Amino acid sequence: MNIEIRYQSRTGHTKAVAEAMGKAIGVTPKDIKTPVTKPTDILFIGGGIYAFQTDPELVAFMKNLDPEKVKKVVVYATSGMLKGTLKKLQRLTKRKKIPLHPETLLLIIPQKTAPTKSQLEQAANFAKSVK
Ligand SMILES: Cc1cc2nc3c(=O)[nH]c(=O)nc-3n(C[C@H](O)[C@H](O)[C@H](O)COP(=O)(O)O)c2cc1C
Repeated sequence: MNIEIRYQSRTGHTKAVAEAMGKAIGVTPKDIKTPVTKPTDILFIGGGIYAFQTDPELVAFMKNLDPEKVKKVVVYATSGMLKGTLKKLQRLTKRKKIPLHPETLLLIIPQKTAPTKSQLEQAANFAKSVK
């Protein structure tokens, strides 16, 4: 089973969450600058939200995803409050007609704070729960 984890992160929160997930399931997370090129059973994809917007590079990553290569997408996000990026990732996955895992992970991590130990544990447990 090939599992990939990608993250978009400007201030390190989503990266830390991706790393906690990766450690839990034995996968090295990569930045969205690395496209998915290998056949992938499960792709975890996540990012933050900035001035009400999803990062344009994350949107471009999703638009460039090859539905022939990815069997299932799991979306996660970090934010100060808003669910916008989570919703956007769900919409972009559906538009590609790639099956979407029904569970999502949203962690509220305001600007200038850091993920808590309990949030990182939540991320690890979430990753382990995905089959
Ligand atoms: C410049 C900036 C703008 C932000 N704007 C919003 C926003 O409009 N709504 C929100 O809920 N969170 C906002 N946040 C909070 C981030 O989405 C949140 O801290 C997220 O975890 C950042 O992820 P990252 O560290 O992986 O980049 C903003 C953070 C920054 C740095």
